[in-house]
Amino acid sequence: MKINSICCLGAGYVGGPTMAMIAAKCPHITVTVCDMNQARIDAWNSDTLPVYEPGLKEIVEKSRGKNLHFTTDLKPSIAGADLIFVCVGTPTKSYGIGAGRAADLRYIESAARLIAEVSEGNKIIVEKSTIPVKTATAIQSIIAANNSSNATFQVLSNPEFLAEGTAVTDMENPDRILIGGEQTPEGREALEALVAVYENWVPRERIITTNLWSSELSKLVANAFLAQRISSINSISALCEATGADVDEVSRAIGTDSRIGPKFLKSSVGFGGSCFQKDLLNLVYLCESFNLHEPAAYWRSVVTMNDWQKSRFVEKIVRTLFNTVNGKRIAILGFAFKKDTNDTRESAAINICRDLIAENAQVVIYDPRVPFATIQRDLLEVGVSQQLIDSNVEIAADPYAAAKGAHALATLTEWDEFRDLDLPKIHELMLKPAFVFDGRAILPAEALAKHGFEAFIIGKG
Ligand code: NAD
Ligand code: UGA
Repeated sequence: MKINSICCLGAGYVGGPTMAMIAAKCPHITVTVCDMNQARIDAWNSDTLPVYEPGLKEIVEKSRGKNLHFTTDLKPSIAGADLIFVCVGTPTKSYGIGAGRAADLRYIESAARLIAEVSEGNKIIVEKSTIPVKTATAIQSIIAANNSSNATFQVLSNPEFLAEGTAVTDMENPDRILIGGEQTPEGREALEALVAVYENWVPRERIITTNLWSSELSKLVANAFLAQRISSINSISALCEATGADVDEVSRAIGTDSRIGPKFLKSSVGFGGSCFQKDLLNLVYLCESFNLHEPAAYWRSVVTMNDWQKSRFVEKIVRTLFNTVNGKRIAILGFAFKKDTNDTRESAAINICRDLIAENAQVVIYDPRVPFATIQRDLLEVGVSQQLIDSNVEIAADPYAAAKGAHALATLTEWDEFRDLDLPKIHELMLKPAFVFDGRAILPAEALAKHGFEAFIIGKG
């Protein structure tokens, strides 16, 4: 089975970049990315892509209009494809059974129904969205019950491991590609067809093949383990502050043990992003569904620690500013959930700003990539009223405008440009005492002290 034509349902942070990479590496394959969101598709077809990622624009421009297409015309794209990636969102369910924990699979289901409706011949369906174990069975059942023609389907699992901000390098040089398939002759044939697509640029030994359920579960487990490391080091950051230890020194000391390793040990104001919390909650729900209450509680605690890290940061600001921030200007540097992305989903900055506004602080936000409309939407979503946004939120054009007249400054995203701020200038612009709360430990501690700031740095005693 040779793949000549690929369709992808979902033109989001995963669908757009991953398909652009496949198109760039496989000029012999036609790749069509579909979404019903017209504005998103228009943006993919424009000079201002809907996703900011270093290096992405170049990759898209290399193939767009040749073997890479973005369209809202879903049905013909599905009908003409040999292989269909499903890259739709799987957010945490906000209603009904499993609300607040289970994955909402309505977009997966609508994609499966659409595929069944318009397909003919042999199709390979690839789950790239992150989903609970056994979702492939649900897709197979929906398709079997709605297959009006004589089409045949194989469902594969191929979870995506890219991280935002480094998506292009992650895809270009992945640690591994994981593909799960049914252990039948047809399943193995489909699996090898997808392996052959990736082999255009990924060495065969880095392509791991498993059964369907191992692949589906591995994605949730990978995110859970990564998030657990951050919560672990964040729990230690509080202990460092209490004892006079330095969390970065502790991270270095433990990370040089080859069994522990140095990555994902950077203490922060709490992990954000669309997936860690969602996937942890999904894992918790899955454990509970099998009456595995202790494993469920164990993974739930990773989220609890992350929530605590965000709220204790706000508490630190309020207590340090003489127990009140009422009417005080707080400069917020960074709103994205990490550097090098315009994505703010579950960013720690959202809850921190919400809680500061609840204390009647004036927050003045600067982020190099996040527009006001996004910040406004995020604050509305967590319950900040439009009236409070109008009265208590300002957007600054640069870090210095944010610092002007501020009682305190807080770094919430580790953008590189914050590492070499003109500290004497910032100090001069701020009210005195000039308080700094470095939630990412990126500012130089000695220079802050030298220039007269009252500085709190996460994880430093
Ligand atoms: P997203 O919200 O950015 O994009 C999803 C898109 O799917 C939306 O544009 C939506 O309009 C579209 N869509 C919904 N139903 C559709 C349908 N039936 N047909 C066509 N399009 C449809 O989401 P995302 O961040 O790209 O994440 C997608 C999946 O990938 C999720 O399961 C997520 O957990 C997983 N994932 C995300 C990342 C990441 O870095 N964002 C990394 C790895 C895995
Ligand atoms: C994460 C995983 O790293 C990807 O492998 C996975 O594909 C993706 O989730 C997903 O499934 O969506 P992402 O959320 O884009 O990627 O970014 P990360 O680099 O993992 O950062 C997540 C959050 O943890 C950010 O807020 C970041 O600032 C924080 N973080 C990360 C820390 O606080 N400390 C660290 O040491 C590392």
